[in-house]
Amino acid sequence: MNKLITIERHFLEQQKSHPEATGELTDLLNDVAFAAKLVRREVVRAGLADILGMAGTTNVQGEEVKKLDLFANEKIINAIGQHGRFALMGSEENEGTIIPPKNQTGRYVLLFDPLDGSSNIDVNVSVGTIFSIYRLTGDDPSQADVNDCLQKGSEQVAAGYVIYGSSVMMVYTTGNGVHGFTYDPTIGEFLLSHENITIPEQGKYYSINEGSWQQLHSSTIDYINYLKEEDKATGRPYSTRYIGSLVADFHRNLLTGGIFIYPATRKHPDGKLRLMYEANPLAFICEQAGGRATNGKTRIMDIDPTELHQRTPLYIGSTQDVLKAESFEH
Ligand code: AHG
Ligand code: MN
Ligand code: MN
Repeated sequence: MNKLITIERHFLEQQKSHPEATGELTDLLNDVAFAAKLVRREVVRAGLADILGMAGTTNVQGEEVKKLDLFANEKIINAIGQHGRFALMGSEENEGTIIPPKNQTGRYVLLFDPLDGSSNIDVNVSVGTIFSIYRLTGDDPSQADVNDCLQKGSEQVAAGYVIYGSSVMMVYTTGNGVHGFTYDPTIGEFLLSHENITIPEQGKYYSINEGSWQQLHSSTIDYINYLKEEDKATGRPYSTRYIGSLVADFHRNLLTGGIFIYPATRKHPDGKLRLMYEANPLAFICEQAGGRATNGKTRIMDIDPTELHQRTPLYIGSTQDVLKAESFEH
């Protein structure tokens, strides 16, 4: 029988292993879990939007119906900002940093991708929310600025994601392993369902958008062709799985093993995915689960950020698979 451990209870347990934690991080994580429940409520009803009015129109109440990613963005900013626990936020949807609605009292920064996989929303395919938490670099929250957001991924104090799929799950780490919680709508709680997730050393899935084949560098093409060769001893050929929502592709590979690659292409010379909102939080999770995350050469969490929305190539998943992919880089 699964012990009924709510995510809030788990945060408190984790806090005990962080002697320096003042409970503030636990409060922040509770804020994020709360915001995730609000976003979930809309995501699972997205199909009803056309009854309530399509995005960009006004609904019967005369309210403007928002695209789900903008809705999710607003929900997270307001639901979390009102508690005044974050000094500063950065969202994939906002050009600059966001000073939360309430005064800046918190000593932490929240960076997030409110809705990952937005192209999949209208076709009922899994989408997600990704978040990353850093401590302020200085002591005075009122002095917080964009430099507090531009910290290496190795400085993260917590990271996680929510996947809105056949069931809704929240997966997080504070540096003590990776833990997954499944949402139980009958009680409105995330319950512990996957304790101490570890990613298999090697997988049998690879995820890449093969539509970009003509734009790929030869090293990437050589690696993918390698995965397609018949060789029982090395578990080849791999199967391809590409959902188009990073969170969903990453989550599957985290549980079953495999590699996700969004490489540099001619169209996206620095890759398409964002370092601060997508690559760093998932890299923290991946490494905590025993996996590996690089840009094909450098550890993602060692990259020194220079701007809020900078992009990076991303090779992430089972350690042996990422190392093999890197061995083709020349
Ligand atoms: P977002 O919806 O937050 O912009 O993220 C979409 C990303 C990621 O979720 C996914 O892996 C990737 O875009 C898919 O890109 P392609 O359609 O170019 O393959
Ligand atoms: Mn995204
Ligand atoms: Mn997004």
